Amino acid sequence: MVSNALTWFLYLFNHLTDLSVPPIQPQLRLRPGHRIGVAPDPDFQEILTGVYGVPALLKIHDRTGDVRWTWGRSDVTQPLPPSIERGLWSEANDATEVKWIRNGTAIAAIYSDLVMIINHTPDQPETDKRITWAVSRQSEFLWNSHSVELLPGDRVAVATTGQRPWDGILVYNASVANPLVDDPPVIQNITGLRAIHAMIWDEQEQMLWAAGTDAAADGSDNIPAYGVIQGYPFNATTGELTTDEAYIYRLPEAFDQETEWGKGYPWWVGPHDLVPVPNERKFIVSDDRGLHAFDLRTEQWTEEYDAVIDKYMQGFEVTTNDRYGYDRTGRFTELPLSDLKSFNLAPDGAFLYVQSLWREFRGFHTNVVMDGIRQEINIGDEIYRSRWFADIPGWPKPVR
Ligand SMILES: *[C@@H]1O[C@H](CO)[C@@H](O)[C@H](O)[C@H]1NC(C)=O
Ligand SMILES: *[C@@H]1O[C@H](CO)[C@@H](O)[C@H](O)[C@H]1NC(C)=O
Ligand SMILES: *[C@@H]1O[C@H](CO)[C@@H](O)[C@H](O)[C@H]1NC(C)=O
Ligand SMILES: *[C@@H]1O[C@H](CO)[C@@H](O)[C@H](O)[C@H]1NC(C)=O
Repeated sequence: MVSNALTWFLYLFNHLTDLSVPPIQPQLRLRPGHRIGVAPDPDFQEILTGVYGVPALLKIHDRTGDVRWTWGRSDVTQPLPPSIERGLWSEANDATEVKWIRNGTAIAAIYSDLVMIINHTPDQPETDKRITWAVSRQSEFLWNSHSVELLPGDRVAVATTGQRPWDGILVYNASVANPLVDDPPVIQNITGLRAIHAMIWDEQEQMLWAAGTDAAADGSDNIPAYGVIQGYPFNATTGELTTDEAYIYRLPEAFDQETEWGKGYPWWVGPHDLVPVPNERKFIVSDDRGLHAFDLRTEQWTEEYDAVIDKYMQGFEVTTNDRYGYDRTGRFTELPLSDLKSFNLAPDGAFLYVQSLWREFRGFHTNVVMDGIRQEINIGDEIYRSRWFADIPGWPKPVR
């Protein structure tokens, strides 16, 4: 009793003195806009990462990198149709996309030569790790697919991530009631957006957003390609996405990639990831050069590059110091914010990012920033994407 009272007294005393002592120095993390004092969000302790390799590996781990659950192709015991079996056991090393879906009971992923949905039910071993939907990427349409997202009605959108005018998004029926088949029927084929690298469902406006380029990023159209985000409203009556030019938002400038890849490299800078700000109607887009923020209410690009870091990602640090070169005009250019292949913001202010090595396609660790302090986890893993294993507040995935 006495010790209890003493504890409380000391607690209160500390608490009051803490409040009365102003910060001695204005630190980075005390600047306006930083959410100081936000407790770690219990729903944002788990992270889903895709590790490249043959075989590739999907893993769920905590903020320190401690692994809690994994999925690799040797976990598959169910019988598979031949094309799905071939896609799973191919020599492809990819783990390109990884997403929390269906309230955490499933994962949408691009793994090896498959686009797939697998169960995550660790409490029910009989269903855990089963593939419930898959399509092979060994086709002219899907060989380079980089992103997958659920739509209402158990539909799933798959980006073709190509350069031709008919590239875009293919929609399939991902109902768990359907058996796996060799060639799942395409229920909608939306053409026109090239090189889609990321997609996200917008529950509030009932539309799918995709980030890609407005012309061939590989230069084959002989015109500059601009990074764009495009919204596709979902018509609940027809169950189809609609294409509406009003929802195409182009980045203000087009750039070629010479700084990173050298002279005559025929590639236009394009988006890598499309990330919502929790509880806000805002996107942040990463591309080959840096970061751009978009406000969905004003339909304007707002901040770019360092201004995005200052506002949303304080504690970001460049992971290698060699990110420079010469652009087409011969001007020396530094691109410290280049190649954020994936990043993800949590409501408590923590964020993740994977920055590929300069002139490489992937990163070799995941960065976790908490309270403005960066830590490296998954060191030595070849990674394209790490995402929170949680529903982003304000941006829920479709439930059914
Ligand atoms: C989602 O999962 C959580 C536990 O992980 C559970 O409490 C909640 O009821 C689930 N929501 C739905 C809609 O099933
Ligand atoms: C999608 O439509 C385009 C344009 O009509 C066509 O060229 C392409 O073959 C279609 N893709 C699929 C997978 O059916
Ligand atoms: C998807 O398949 C399920 C199960 O067969 C079916 O009930 C549903 O109507 C299908 N949805 C679409 C959009 O075709
Ligand atoms: C959805 O499609 C139906 C049938 O084509 C059409 O009548 C309706 O206007 C569409 N809804 C919207 C919001 O465009």
